[in-house]
Amino acid sequence: MGAQFLLYLIMLFLSLSNLSSHATIENQSHFFTLMKQSLSGKSLSSWDVAIAGERPYCNYTGIGCNDEGYIVEIDVSRWSLSGHFPANVCHYLPQLRILRLGHNNLHGNFPAGINNCSLLEDLNMTYSSLTGTLPDFSPMKSLKRLDLSYNLFTGDFPMSITNLTNLEWLNFNENGGFNLWQLPEEITRLTKLKTMILSTCMVHGRIPASIGNMTSLVDLELCGNFLVGRIPPELGKLKNLRQLELYYNQLVGEIPEELGNLTQLIDVDMSVNLLVGKIPESLCKLPSLRVLQLYNNSLTGEIPSIIGNSSTLKILSLYDNFLTGKVPTNLGESSDLTALDLSENHLSGDFPPNICKGGKLLYFLVLDNLFTGRLPATYGKCKSLLRFRVSSNFLEGPIPEDLLGLPHASIIDLGFNRFSGAIAKTIGNGKNLSELFIQHNMISGVLPPEISQASNLVKIDLSNNLLRGAIPPEIGNLRKLNLLLLQDNKFSSSIPKTLSSLKSLNVLDLSNNLLTGSIPESICELLPNSINFSNNRLSGPVPLSLIKGGLVESLSGNPGLCVSIYLNTSDSDFPVCPQIYSRKRLNCIWVIGASGIVVIIGAVLFLKRWLRKETEILEQDEILVWSSSHVQNFHKINFDQREIVEALVDKNIVGHGGSGTVYKIELSNGKTVAVKKLWSRKVKDSASEEQLFLDKELKTEVETLGSIRHMNIVKLYCYFSSSHSNLLVYEYMPNGNLWDALHRGRDRDFLDWPTRHRIALGVAQGLAYLHHDLSPHIIHRDIKSTNILLSADYQPKVADFGVAKVLQARGGKDSTTTVIAGTYGYIAPEYAYSSKATVKCDVYSFGVVLMELITGKKPVEPEFGESKNIIYWVSCKVETKEGAMEVLDKRLVGLFMEEMIQVLRIAIRCTCRVPALRPTMNEVVQLLIEADPYRFDSCKSSNKETSDVVKS
Ligand SMILES: *[C@@H]1O[C@H](CO)[C@@H](O)[C@H](O)[C@H]1NC(C)=O
Ligand SMILES: *[C@@H]1O[C@H](CO)[C@@H](O)[C@H](O)[C@H]1NC(C)=O
Ligand SMILES: *[C@@H]1O[C@H](CO)[C@@H](O)[C@H](O)[C@H]1NC(C)=O
Ligand SMILES: *[C@@H]1O[C@H](CO)[C@@H](O)[C@H](O)[C@H]1NC(C)=O
Ligand SMILES: *[C@@H]1O[C@H](CO)[C@@H](O)[C@H](O)[C@H]1NC(C)=O
Repeated sequence: MGAQFLLYLIMLFLSLSNLSSHATIENQSHFFTLMKQSLSGKSLSSWDVAIAGERPYCNYTGIGCNDEGYIVEIDVSRWSLSGHFPANVCHYLPQLRILRLGHNNLHGNFPAGINNCSLLEDLNMTYSSLTGTLPDFSPMKSLKRLDLSYNLFTGDFPMSITNLTNLEWLNFNENGGFNLWQLPEEITRLTKLKTMILSTCMVHGRIPASIGNMTSLVDLELCGNFLVGRIPPELGKLKNLRQLELYYNQLVGEIPEELGNLTQLIDVDMSVNLLVGKIPESLCKLPSLRVLQLYNNSLTGEIPSIIGNSSTLKILSLYDNFLTGKVPTNLGESSDLTALDLSENHLSGDFPPNICKGGKLLYFLVLDNLFTGRLPATYGKCKSLLRFRVSSNFLEGPIPEDLLGLPHASIIDLGFNRFSGAIAKTIGNGKNLSELFIQHNMISGVLPPEISQASNLVKIDLSNNLLRGAIPPEIGNLRKLNLLLLQDNKFSSSIPKTLSSLKSLNVLDLSNNLLTGSIPESICELLPNSINFSNNRLSGPVPLSLIKGGLVESLSGNPGLCVSIYLNTSDSDFPVCPQIYSRKRLNCIWVIGASGIVVIIGAVLFLKRWLRKETEILEQDEILVWSSSHVQNFHKINFDQREIVEALVDKNIVGHGGSGTVYKIELSNGKTVAVKKLWSRKVKDSASEEQLFLDKELKTEVETLGSIRHMNIVKLYCYFSSSHSNLLVYEYMPNGNLWDALHRGRDRDFLDWPTRHRIALGVAQGLAYLHHDLSPHIIHRDIKSTNILLSADYQPKVADFGVAKVLQARGGKDSTTTVIAGTYGYIAPEYAYSSKATVKCDVYSFGVVLMELITGKKPVEPEFGESKNIIYWVSCKVETKEGAMEVLDKRLVGLFMEEMIQVLRIAIRCTCRVPALRPTMNEVVQLLIEADPYRFDSCKSSNKETSDVVKS
């Protein structure tokens, strides 16, 4: 009886457990129904395949079961899912250990109930676009890995994680929505924690000394927060630490010597803080140290010489401190250095002779110090160098043979030193050189014509030297040249006519030389922003255009120059030319638009007189109509206004914009222009001249574009305003805008990658010009592919400055503006929140355009998921090489994959959420030119490996 009862009990137990396991299986399959109901995504269909057996889902992709048939793992990372993850997952899957949902587009809040999964060990929800506040994590007693990075959580930081004493991995990087919070002492309860990434997630206050008790830590990252106070010496107890990232905070005091106890340390970055005192020798002795970055602090004392013995050091970046003394002589001898940036310190003495012995050095940057002596001859053999910048020191002696012709170098900057000797012919080997600065030295000899073989040169500054002889005519082959400064030398030839083929030239200064001969008439085909020929020995007639352009000043000090009798010369000191010059045909009208509207009357009168006298195209009435209106000419114009007015007929319409109609007009002189006709809104009450004169946007466009000359910025030739309408006359861009070329183009005429790369570089150069070469600088504020126009040979030109705002540089800082502009899909996140435009907003928008070029996709597409954009989509894909390949435009099969991925990395940096981590447009230009050889997949690591490491 007893035995029977026992048997019965056993049977009952078995059937019950059987039953309960059946119930679980039911529950488990039900969960898949829920998933399919609340989430969408192609990959889910892989679960529709009929699989025979009791627990078919155990064979589904992304699902793992244990031996009893319980689901223990769900990994749907990067499945392009969108929708809600079902609530109470552990009710259905009671044995779940691993849940990986990263890189999906999960809507709404942290999925309810996950925090009740007491057996869960690994929860990964990186890049899941989750919002809202976080629940109490205390019940997740088994959790070992928690990755909630790159989300948009708000509210209080979940302090309950301090209850998760099994944690080994913790990542909250990039959650800028939390309320400010402080690291609690209780964090030290996480004694098993190996990785603690709490970067850019709103931590403020001090770093508690007790963190030194978390001796399991291998990786500690607290960068991009608001940490204050000293770096606790107790960090020296973290004997397993390999990576320590404290950059971008407000830490003060000295770097604790105790960090020298961290013998495993590989990568240390404490840049951009307020640290003082010396660099501890103990830190420089560390046996595995690869990266040491302490730039932008207030460190003093010498660089410990012991660092020269390191056999592991790759990156040393100490710029912008107050360091003194010498650079260790043996630096670079024992390790393969890739980047050295010691700029902006008070370092002195000689350069280390064997700095590039390892053959890997890319950046040698030591500008603005007190270095003396000669450049070691070995520097001419540093074949790997991309940038070599030693300007503003006291260096002397010759420039090493081959230095200027280094095959990969894109910037060589030797300015403001005491270099002597000649420029070697080998400069012609500098095929990647884009910027050459040797100004303010004692360089003598002639400028070798071979310089014209360095065909990527954009900027040349050789001013203030002792160069003599001819300006080589071959210089006209440098088609990309934007800046040519040769002033204050002893050049004695005539001005070569070939200069007129430098179509991109913006600034030309030949003043204070011994130049002879006449000014080539063809020079007025150039439209440099600034030109200076003063104090030479030029003679003959001054081209009319130069005088009318107000450039008289820039011709002064040339006693042999004269002017034609046709001109009223009251505004110049030039004598009237002898008879032989006077009948010369003047074929170049060029009126430089001054900043305001002031010059107009003069221009109109002049134009009127000239037109009547020389060509008599306009009838009296027309002249009256237009002279009673505003006319502003900005570039050389050679067309007749009546012709334009007459051509404003329907058949010439090529488009309608928000503000007016665009016409394509072919002029009788063969030129084609685009004319935008805007209706002026008459202000009835107070129809003053001022108010008739257009709304602000138009005025901004006129003023901005009128004053800019750059080959990648659309030219505004001229502007008319009358009581009926306003006409803007632009250069015509036959290939339309980039948006249409990328997204509307038929498949057979899509843009190939070299063309797209050229477009990217051109736009970058145009923006770099706006941001860095103009004063005050200009923020475009609405960079997008529809505002990038394409010329006949697919050169890009940035257009539509209606919302651009010229920012006055006040006290050296950007004054930002608070008028919101921009276009959905392109707006930088901080701009959307704060409505403060900075140059970094343009960088962000440019990054979006880069992504369009790379992927062929629009900034917002249904496939990215609701309210998700291209940046999100790309970021979900790029962590693996295969993923990165997937984002590339499918129409560009096979070719140039590597190059495209390199540009993709630049795009990712440009679209970093933290503005400070985005590169400047100057850097972007360099990166695009350099075809950066590093690999990186996120803002942070990229930053580490390229230009944040090195400032310039
Ligand atoms: C499901 O997977 C198990 C082991 O993982 C395997 O033995 C079985 O054959 C699979 N069933 C099907 C239908 O694929
Ligand atoms: C989370 O998943 C992503 C891939 O989706 C991976 O790169 C990351 O390392 C994971 N985090 C942890 C802590 O395992
Ligand atoms: C830790 O867990 C205990 C017990 O569940 C709870 O009382 C406490 O509030 C938790 N701590 C935090 C910081 O949430
Ligand atoms: C943790 O560190 C603090 C300060 O460094 C120390 O006072 C305390 O005793 C340590 N606690 C444990 C449990 O080791
Ligand atoms: C750590 O470093 C400090 C200073 O460098 C030293 O005084 C101390 O003894 C070291 N501690 C250990 C445990 O090595």
